[in-house]
Amino acid sequence: PAKPFQTKLVLLGEAAVGKSSVVLRFVSNEFAENKEPTIGAAFLTQKCRLEDKVIKFEIWDTAGQERFHSLAPMYYRNAQASAVIYDVTKASSFEKAKSWVKELQRQANPNIIIALVGNKIDLLTSEAGVESASESNPASSEDAEEDDEDDEGTATATTGAAGASGETLRAVAKEEAKAYAEENELLFFETSAKTGDGVIEVFTEIAKKINPQ
Ligand code: GTP
Ligand code: MG
Repeated sequence: PAKPFQTKLVLLGEAAVGKSSVVLRFVSNEFAENKEPTIGAAFLTQKCRLEDKVIKFEIWDTAGQERFHSLAPMYYRNAQASAVIYDVTKASSFEKAKSWVKELQRQANPNIIIALVGNKIDLLTSEAGVESASESNPASSEDAEEDDEDDEGTATATTGAAGASGETLRAVAKEEAKAYAEENELLFFETSAKTGDGVIEVFTEIAKKINPQ
């Protein structure tokens, strides 16, 4: 039973990709459907027990909204590890993740362990995607026929690559993200904070790479 080794870990990524949700899953094994945006940053701790050591993560969950960007260096400055998160259904969030990786490579501890994490894989109802994207859409036909004036668009107000049937298509190819991670020597994971898929692995694999001394 070794003494826990404390490790500072920072979470970065575009707003609403699920940073707080991934931490909540890891720390409490819970999920909140309508989690409010983080203001500034939140601090949480959780231990990770490996065969030969115990790592106590001190987690800074930063706010993804652009107005908080300038605070980030305070949180990654002394971090031994970082998880940079994007949303697999939102291409812009992957671009943002890459810019965080660049910033960390330039400005953070040169030995920082970085994990690239594609979250929300539960939204990918079918990996093949296209073949079932033209199903009919009984669920969202609440717009009555009587007022057909100027509300076009309301029935099709889906976001990103979501189809009319509620199917959500992958916007970031797993192979592309994985290749980018390999080129940049990052750990790579896909997760769902909602179902819990892959979340523990992110922290366990980071913990394995931490060398207590
Ligand atoms: P900021 O704090 O603003 O930077 O956002 P965040 O990255 O912390 O995102 P947050 O965890 O608040 O999640 C944003 C929304 O996405 C919430 O409504 C979550 O319920 C939802 N969400 C997070 N993770 C998942 C997931 O794995 N699957 C699904 N379906 N929804 C998720
Ligand atoms: Mg948050």
